[in-house]
Formats: sequence, structure tokens, C-alpha cells
Amino acid sequence: MKLVKTRVEFEGRFRDEYVPVEEEEVEAWASDERLNVVGKPVSRVDAKSKVTGSAKYTHDVYPPGVLYGKFVRSPYSHAKVKSVNIQNALETPSVVAIYTKHNAHTLPFEAAKKFFGEEVNYQGEEVAFVVAEEEEALSDAIEKIDVEYEPLPAFLNIEEPTNQVTRKVYERGSVEKGFKEADVVIEERFDTQATLHNCMETHGCVVWWEGDTLIVHTSTQAIFYVRKELSEELGIPEKNIRVICSFMGGGFGSKFGAGRYTLFAAMVSRALSRAVRVVLDRVEENLVTGNRSQTVQKIRIGAKKDGTLTAIEHFALVNIGVDGWTADVGGPTKSLYRCENVRVEIVGVKTNLVSNTAFRAPGYVEGNFALECALDELAQKLGIDPLELRLRNYAEKDQLLNLPYSSKGLKQAYEKGARLIRWFDEPRVVRIGDKIRAKGMASVIWFGGGGPPAYSQVKLNSDGSVNVITATQDIGTGTKTALAQIAAEELSIPIEKVQVTLGDTITELYSPGSGGSQTLASVGPAVRSAARDVKTQLLELASQLFDAPLGSLTLENGVIKKKTGEKLATLEEIAKRLGNFVIIGKGARGPNKDEYALNTFAAQFAEIEVDTQTGKIKLVKFVSVHDSGRVVNPLVFSSQIEGGVIQGLGYALTEGRLVDNSGAVLNPNLADYLIPCSEDIGEIIAEWVEVQDPFVNNIGSKGIGEPPIIGVAPAIANALKAATGVRARALPLTPERVYSSINSLLETSKTNATYI
Ligand code: MOS
Repeated sequence: MKLVKTRVEFEGRFRDEYVPVEEEEVEAWASDERLNVVGKPVSRVDAKSKVTGSAKYTHDVYPPGVLYGKFVRSPYSHAKVKSVNIQNALETPSVVAIYTKHNAHTLPFEAAKKFFGEEVNYQGEEVAFVVAEEEEALSDAIEKIDVEYEPLPAFLNIEEPTNQVTRKVYERGSVEKGFKEADVVIEERFDTQATLHNCMETHGCVVWWEGDTLIVHTSTQAIFYVRKELSEELGIPEKNIRVICSFMGGGFGSKFGAGRYTLFAAMVSRALSRAVRVVLDRVEENLVTGNRSQTVQKIRIGAKKDGTLTAIEHFALVNIGVDGWTADVGGPTKSLYRCENVRVEIVGVKTNLVSNTAFRAPGYVEGNFALECALDELAQKLGIDPLELRLRNYAEKDQLLNLPYSSKGLKQAYEKGARLIRWFDEPRVVRIGDKIRAKGMASVIWFGGGGPPAYSQVKLNSDGSVNVITATQDIGTGTKTALAQIAAEELSIPIEKVQVTLGDTITELYSPGSGGSQTLASVGPAVRSAARDVKTQLLELASQLFDAPLGSLTLENGVIKKKTGEKLATLEEIAKRLGNFVIIGKGARGPNKDEYALNTFAAQFAEIEVDTQTGKIKLVKFVSVHDSGRVVNPLVFSSQIEGGVIQGLGYALTEGRLVDNSGAVLNPNLADYLIPCSEDIGEIIAEWVEVQDPFVNNIGSKGIGEPPIIGVAPAIANALKAATGVRARALPLTPERVYSSINSLLETSKTNATYI
């Protein structure tokens, strides 16, 4: 073992990691290597358990004697909590306990003392916690709790020059010089709205104590982050906490932490010596689990007549809620195109809204909307085809680190996408009565090369079956299936023989959070190297069993053979002969090759139909062509693309948190918050380009979770511009906004509500 330092990225933030490197690193599959399982559209290994309901999600965990908990939440976005009267509520049948700022200190943890504050700073902040024997009793009891508030003014407008708490400036070259050199300069403003994750499975946990060990079942993207957070908050060692997430119904960035509900449930469970279950309802989900940030952006681009970019300047205000974080809205501006002079300034502003959380390509979705719309404006001003303009500014090298990419297939993606949408082969705008059909496009850059640390074990059992064990989670993307394919490939056995166990910290096989499009690229290589270890051990044993020199043996299609072709035994026969002997292989994700930039790319094209009488935009067709390296499973890969495009469609057309001027959210539910439904979706063509990447990791794969959402809104907005001549400046592109702008009306409705 050797220890090396390597650069690791998560959601655009870089850090150094020390990683142990095994003596024999597994090489990436060669481009001409014939693979039997990897690359095949294998159905999900857990599909049956999901459709039959036997898959156990957090919501399905009901330990004996479980108690139900629910928070009382503030209706105000900013208020003093003067008193909380629980007398009447305590008398509700089945209520076991109620905790408030007056009595939470009786719980046996320091963290309980400061849990409920004297003030609430966003709508939905916790004010009390009710525990009952039956779930049905909770809302009755909550109604009887009398909270006296003194409302305070809410800070909501991020354009007011206060509450700016973070400021990040990035600069390369000199934008001043770049704008002087420009023949054309455009300047645009764009507003984007807050959107909500709307995971199908709401946030929740079921916790109990076994002696001094806290057992936590929770729907999370990162069991190890939850463990660490709870350990710090509760002041107990990590080894006394076990976090389990066997199945989960989506996260999209909102489920990286333990959540206030898990912390409080753990404390209450300790005090009452009972299991406690807290599962958020849909309204709570949409009020308190965070969101993509609202932004106000200004972007200025300078270019030569031939389209060469000379300068880009990008300024953004980002609404981070009461205590959130500022995502890199300038990410695409810094990296997507070749440009020497770039300045990006991103300012985070605190408001009386819930803290934002990561949301599928945080920052990039917001920033790419501004950049790709502005570039479309530039193309028109210069009279250059939008795709041609992008090709003229193609970045052959990474612009931030000045490194070559481990692979970049964006050019091929442009070509394939243009062909599929018939970009050059038919008129881009067609009028049919009151309706106009038109096309628009956008480019995408993101991360997703993955990195260490990530660990796995692979076991060959005496019946010839194989277990893959790793402690990542499958957030619904098909991780289990992809990992099973990798092990099956390396051991040349049918996938049916492989079982994948994940989502439990007790294995201690640390894996990173399922996010940043990095799960497969981080964990996949660890699984492959563990499977390789099993294979090596197996061949060593076979060489002794058959008295054949080690170098003369191979494993092919589950059969140990001499290289001369003579079959010796199947893997099962050997396992059986060894009796109760289990071969345990171990694998770790190797270091990243620091001499390359690891990025994913996509070209996205939208064809829309605008109804000029109603302002409604219909998506006719969407073409999304990706470079994510090797596609391990085309079926789950396309599902990710479809999901991302649909979520992007919601961002573009219908989704937005609507907030009134007191800071109250008007649509925290799925009736008024409009996510796309089947009827809204149109045709989605999910495609990729065959790019070999021997440098990124030993499976040659990059991620696909986030890229598909990034270019959807600008592709649609650019199509709208082509159709109507109207440049969309604010999302979502509701019929009212579109109708008003094509008819040059000021926005007609007078409401006090805004999308923020
Ligand atoms: Mo993500 S926003 O890394 O789930």
C-alpha cells in the first residue's frame, strides 16, 4: 500500500484527499474489449421488490412500540415566540409528550437546550414537538397548542443592499481589456426562481436505541454524513450510531444531512425509551427541506465580429434563505467556453425564508440559464448560427485549471443532437395558425468524474453466488444494478448470481454521498477492484487445486480454463470444492489523475410550440445528447436523462415557489406547485456519444445524474425567442408571462406574490 494525495471534487468544490493505492491497480477496460454485462440494458435488480412493495423504504419501518412525532411549525416567516401553551393539547388521547422551548431542556442532551429558539426566522421553523401513540392524534394535538407570536418584519428582497453575507469573486485575464477588444457587447439581466425538490418519498426517519447505540433508518443521500452530523450534535461517538437507508425515493440534493427531525427524534427516543418515527407530510416537505436558490443575474459578453469571445462578466445575487450556502452560479461562465477574460462575482443574500439546499447541479442550472440565453442573444446580434457560435468558442482545454480534459465529447454531442433535432435540415421556425413551432439549444458542462474515498468488498460464497457490499446508497438511480453489472463483468458470471448490499454504516465500507453525479464513478471502480481481488485469489487457489502454474490460468464466462483452452472447473465447482470457504475481495477507489480535468458535457435541443392566443408553451421534442464516458447501463442511463429533462422542464415552464410579501409560501403542495405531468412532457430523445476515457477511473464512466437538467431552461427560452422574438428574462415561463410579453403588455395580474 502506498499513500498518495489526489484532487477530489464535489459539486464544483475541490479538496485534497489522501488515498491508499494498491500495488496492482486495475486498468480501465480497453476500447476494443468485449464486455458481456457492462453496457447492456439490464433491468433493475431491485425492480421486482419495488413494484411488489417488498422493498423496505424508511416510510415502511415500524418497529414494535413505535411512537409518532410531528413538529408544530411557525406560520410566520419572522416572529418572536412569546409563549407556547400545551395544557389542552396534553389532554388529547394518545399524546405521550410535548416539547417546547419551555421544557426541551429536560431531554438528556445539550443540543435540546437550544433546539427551540426565542425567534422563528422562516415559515415552518420548529416551535414544538408532539409525540403520540397513534399518528392520527398528532394533528388534533397540534391544533390545541396555543402559540403566542409577535410578528416581525420579514426580509425578502435580495436586491436590497443588506444581508449580503457571502461574496466570491473569480477573475482571469482582464475583462476591461476584453471589452475594449470587442466589436459587439451585450448586456442582459435574468431572474430565476426558487424551486422545490419534491422527492417522491418525503424526508423522514425512524430511530431507536439499543443500549447506547442509536439506530437510524432515514431517507438520505449520505448515511455517513448523517452519522457524523448526529455524532457531533448529540455528543456521542460515531461508532454508537448506525445509519441505514436500504431504498429511497429521491433526494435531488435535499437529503445530505440528518435534518432537525432526526436530531430531535433521537433525543426524544432516548428520553422515552421508545422508537420514534417522524415522517414529513407534503406541506412540511415543501416548506422546510430547502430549495434551489432564487437568483438575480447580470451578464455582459463581448465578442469579435467572427464570434470569438473576448470577455464575459457575470454578477449574481443568490437567495440563500436564513442560513444556506451560495452555490457557484458562475460555474458555467468560468468553464464552458474558451475565453481569456472572465470575471464572476457571486453574492449570497440572507432572507427570512428556509435555508436553501443543494438541488441537482446547484448553481449551474441557474447560471447556465443566464449564460446560454445571453449567448443566444449574441449569436443573433452577430448573425451567426447559435450552434456555430458555440463551436467557434469550443474549449479544447479546461479553462479553470488549464489542464486537458480526461475526455470531452461535446463536439460529437453537438453533431448528433443537431442531426436528431434536424437543426440544419429544416426551417427552425414554423407558423401553424395561432401556433408557432421553433427550436433552441444550449450546452452543458458539469463534473461527475468521482473520486476517493470509496470502498467495497466482494465475496464469493461457497454456493458460487457473489455478494457486493458497499455503504453507498441507491437514491433511485439504479446504483445497485450498475454495481452488480460491474462485479458480474469482472468475474464473468451472470448478473443473477450477484447480490448487492448497501446503505448501512455498520459495514464501515465508507462511500461518499449519492450526489454530485459521482456515485458510479466513485463506487463503481472500488467494486471492480474488489471483484478483481476475488478473481486473483480464485486463480491462485485453482492453480494449487489443479496443480497448474498460476500464469497458465484464466477465468472466462465463469469457467477456469488453461490458456490452452482446456476447461478445468466452473466457478461454482471450485467454490463447492473449497467447502465453507468464502473468498473475500477488497477494493478501494484509486486516486484521480491530477493532470486531467474531469468533466461531463451535453448538447441539448428543444422544439417547442407556443400558442400565441394563450401564451402556453408546449414541449414538442427534446434532444439531450451526453458525454458521460462509458454507459454502464443504457436503460438506467436514459432514465436519468429523462428525469433530468422533465425536472428542467418544470424549472422552465411551471415550477416556482410563490411567496407573499409577509414571507408566507402560497404553494407548498403538489396542487399549486406545478411539476410536469405525463401530458406536459412531449418526446424526449435521450442519447449519448461513445467516448472512451481511460483516465477518469477504471470503469471509464463519468456521471449522468445532474447534467440533463442544466441546459433545459435556456434551450426552451432560446426556442421561445426564435418563435416570438421575445427574450424571456424571468423563469418560470408561465402562459401569463409569455402572453404578456408577446403582446407587449406589462404583466397584468396585480398580486403581492412573487416567485422567490
Ligand atoms: Mo446533488 S444536488 O449532488 O443531489
